[in-house]
Amino acid sequence: MTRTTLLKSLAALAVAAFASSLSAQETAELKCFYTGGPAKPGLNVEYEGVTYGFCSEANQKKFQEERAASVYQRIGGKAALSAAVDLFYVKVLADERVNHFFEDTNMKRQHSKQKEFLAAALGAPTPWTGKDMRKAHENLDLREEDFAAIAENLQATLKELKLGDAIIGEIMTIVASTKKDVLNQ
Ligand code: HEM
Repeated sequence: MTRTTLLKSLAALAVAAFASSLSAQETAELKCFYTGGPAKPGLNVEYEGVTYGFCSEANQKKFQEERAASVYQRIGGKAALSAAVDLFYVKVLADERVNHFFEDTNMKRQHSKQKEFLAAALGAPTPWTGKDMRKAHENLDLREEDFAAIAENLQATLKELKLGDAIIGEIMTIVASTKKDVLNQ
């Protein structure tokens, strides 16, 4: 064996060892989405670029059924929600009834927080990691009419994006379920 061939073989071995240790490590770290127990090999599901593991076929099936049934997936997932939230805040900031609440708000952060919150609320498998709605709004002294104005902007956004009345109704019901907390009632 020449020196070059030997070096090439060693390099190939190193790459193979690295790849196999990576996949072994990934499998070892993956937990069941529902139970938090070790994930069984062969049951992984890729969803919007994330790998989810499961401890049983029943739980894998449950995940797929929940995704298919979710409002989140039915409106078009991450891309659709992102477009909706971006347009929603254009409307909110143009609405003189409520735009003053956002005067000191970092809107880039707000867009990304709202996307994360609504994704989880509408049935994405990704968690909400921010403040609970009561805490997030407790210093704003919000009233019924403020909530109604925000909801109106969201509804107008969803209509403009050509979602059907039935699914808009489902989304508005989910958003309305946050009202008591948002208004700190
Ligand atoms: C309709 C239901 C609502 C939902 C689902 C909602 C959702 C959220 C979320 C996810 C955050 C970010 C929380 C965090 O930082 O962890 C937030 C903050 C905020 N929301 Fe709401 N919100 C709602 C209603 C309202 C209303 C009615 C107003 C005012 C008219 C409002 C004004 C604000 C403001 C000003 C912040 C704080 C931004 C900052 O930290 O500067 N929200 N909201």
